[in-house]
Parts: sequence; C-alpha cells; structure tokens
Amino acid sequence: MADTTDTKSSNQMWGGRFASGPDAIMEEINASIGFDKKLFAQDIRGSIAHATMLAHQGIISAEDKDKIVHGLNTILSEIESGNFEFSRRLEDIHMNIEARLATLIGPAAGRLHTARSRNDQVALDFRLWVKEELEKTEKMLTGLIAAFLDRADEHAESVMPGFTHLQTAQPVTFGHHCMAYVEMFGRDRSRVRHAIEHLDESPIGAAALAGTGYPIDRHMTAKALGFREPTRNSIDTVSDRDFAIEFLSIAAITGMHLSRLAEEIVIWSTPQFGFVRLSDAFSTGSSIMPQKKNPDAAELVRAKTGRINGSLVALLTIMKGLPLAYSKDMQEDKEQVFDAAESLELAIAAMTGMVRDMTVNTARMKAAAGSGFSTATDLADWLVREAGLPFRDAHHVTGRAVALAESKGCDLAELPLADLQAIHASITDKVYDVLTVEASVASRKSFGGTAPSEVRRQIAFWRARN
Ligand code: ARG
Repeated sequence: MADTTDTKSSNQMWGGRFASGPDAIMEEINASIGFDKKLFAQDIRGSIAHATMLAHQGIISAEDKDKIVHGLNTILSEIESGNFEFSRRLEDIHMNIEARLATLIGPAAGRLHTARSRNDQVALDFRLWVKEELEKTEKMLTGLIAAFLDRADEHAESVMPGFTHLQTAQPVTFGHHCMAYVEMFGRDRSRVRHAIEHLDESPIGAAALAGTGYPIDRHMTAKALGFREPTRNSIDTVSDRDFAIEFLSIAAITGMHLSRLAEEIVIWSTPQFGFVRLSDAFSTGSSIMPQKKNPDAAELVRAKTGRINGSLVALLTIMKGLPLAYSKDMQEDKEQVFDAAESLELAIAAMTGMVRDMTVNTARMKAAAGSGFSTATDLADWLVREAGLPFRDAHHVTGRAVALAESKGCDLAELPLADLQAIHASITDKVYDVLTVEASVASRKSFGGTAPSEVRRQIAFWRARN
C-alpha cells in the first residue's frame, strides 16, 4: 500500500512542475534568460554598434538605424529602472530585447539582425562582460596590493618567525612576509592584463559561423566597441570560449592565493599564535562561547576557492568534447563565470579589508621568532665565517649547541660562553651578536632577502608599479 502511494506521489512530483508536458520541459532546459539578462547592457551596446555600421555601409537606411538606436536606448533605461518584463518564452536576452524592440518601433526592428547571428552576438556580449570584469579585477588586485604595501612599510622591521613545514625555520620580518603576497597578487594582476590582451578582438560579424555576404565593416564595429581588432576566423570566433576559461583559471589561481592568505590569518589569529587580531568587522562571536572571536570571513574566502575551482572544471568539461562551431552546450558557460566572478570579487574585497584592519601583535611575533632555535643557522654561518669551519661541520657543532640548549630549557642566546666553548673552542663572545633575531634578520641582505633594507627595496619596486 505504502509503496503504491509513494510511486504515485513521486510521479506527481515529477509531473507537477512540467504539468503542461514536453513544451514546458523544453522551455525550462532551453531558456537562459534567468541568468543571461546580466548581459543586457553589453547586448544593447553591441546592437547599437552593429546597426550603426549597417547604416554606414548602406545595408539598412539611416531612418531605420535611428529608430533602432532610439528603441534600444529606451529598452536600456527600461531595464535599468526595473521596468522591463523578461519572458522565459523568449529564451534569452537577445530575443527578449529584439522582441521588445519590435513592439516599440515596428518592422524596422526586423532589420537589426541583418548580417549577424545569435552565435556571434552572444560571443560579443559575453566577451564584453568578461573584459569589464577583468578590468574590475585588475583594480581590485591593485587595491589589495596597496593594502599589503602599507602593512609592509609599517612592519619592514617587525620580526616574526619564518616557517617551513609550519615549523619555525628562520626569523623574517612581517614586512617581508607581506611582500610575498604582493608578489603573488602581482602575478595574478599580470595574468589579468594578459587575458585582457588575448580577448581584445571583436567577434561580431562572424555571423552564424561562416561570415556573411553583406558588405559589413568588422573593423568599424571592433573600433566602436573598444576592441583592438576583429577576430580573424569566423568558425573559431563562435566556437571559442577561451576568454571565459582564462578568466576562470585566473580566478582559480588568485583564489588559491587568497585561500593561503586566509589560512594564515586563521592560524595567526588563534590565541595560541596571537600574531594578529582581526577587527570586529571581519569576525564574529560565538553564540555559546563568549570568549570567541571567529575568523569567519577568512574561512569563507578559503571555501569560495573550492567553488571557483568547480566553475573552472565545469567549463573545461563543458567545452572539451564540442565539435566546431557553436553548440548549445556553450550556453552553460555564463553561470560558471558569473558565479566565480561574484566569489572572486567578494574574496578580494574581504581580504583587502582584513589586511588593512587587522592589528599586528609585534611583541608576540618577536617572542615567537626567538623561540624554536630560529637563529641556529646564524650560529652555523658564524662558525663558517669567523672560525673557518666547513658548513657541514658547523651544522654539526650547531646541532650540539641546540641539543644542549634544549636540555637546559633555554634559548641559544642564553647559553653561557663556557658551554659553547666546550662544544667548540673557537667560539668567542662575538657570537652573541648574531644570535638575536634582529641581527639574524638584518644579516640577510641578499637580493630579495628579509633584511629590512631589502624589504624596503622591494616595497619601492612595487610602489612604482602600483
Ligand atoms: N542563449 C544562447 C547562448 O547563450 C545564445 C546563442 C544561441 N544560438 C543558437 N544558435 N541557438 O549560447
């Protein structure tokens, strides 16, 4: 009995949504207006450029062009002011706008689609959208880099432990650590600039896939739409979504960098580390544990990365088996890019805010920098330099000093000279000069090293480029 009821109700559930049958299913799977309405401004810009070119080439009359342009501008303000009714029956943004244009201006609207297809139209709209998004990303990365440069300036001399394997390795400065992120986000920004250069070709005029017999001027539309030049191969033009995939790869790499930063902030803000304190704006309390301050924003940035990676893999997979030229599969490109763009913008904004607002506890960092025998390498280097030992022997002597300090429960700099001399007779009291974390850091003047003078050089390099 129960089984029968279950089957029946699940069938009804299936049927419920598509009560009117195959037509409704087709409309639902086919329509993209739910998400591609985001492209309305690009679609209208593209159509105005196309109509203007058609009139210039004598393909449509100047009067029809004027009507079309006027109608499109009306539609633009209707959509911007929320007075446009999108219809799923009209499938996508292109047909929604064209249908409205016909209502507004009559038969002249039918001339707009001369010498073009939705295939080059969507390629154009989406390229324009991605281009603007890349430009926005470039600006946001510049803001994030600026935030790091300011913190690096402020902390060019603040000593902190440097880690490998998340184990204390050697002292570094917090400024130096900040500058590592400047390098990472600087590379992301140059990837963005390359991507803008790659996509800077206008697809419009490729038509369905083969070009057109009308005497169009693709250089004119390319110029009007701010592209460097028209694309060169009409088949490739309507088949290509590399620009979207490049955007997603950049988003994925940038997201990975943001996630590593987020992870460090999560670690640094624990009471156990206590290196930074997040501002209230970027953390939350616990509903049950009054002492807690949770780094939720950083955790969510770490999570957004997973989502962005998913979008990249989704679009690569959508595209990998498609024969040339256009296939409807490609309609699934937009949601991935829109979603990743939203996540990326939010993640950059959140991390920029966090980096600017967080309080850096230099005393805690310095204390941590001195523990864990972080200047052991400095002792070994001193033995090489001052006592002429081969590095491997110096390493061994230092290892004994570390073991002794460990057994005494003190730091290297706290071992009495007699103890050090018992390990190696050539050690003098000059050795204490290199056992402090400040001396250690100041000595690492190699190009790109952690010495404050080097960090300031790195800051100056990036200030000139930001
Ligand atoms: N909505 C479609 C898309 O986003 C527009 C192109 C449709 N072209 C076609 N031949 N059905 O891909």
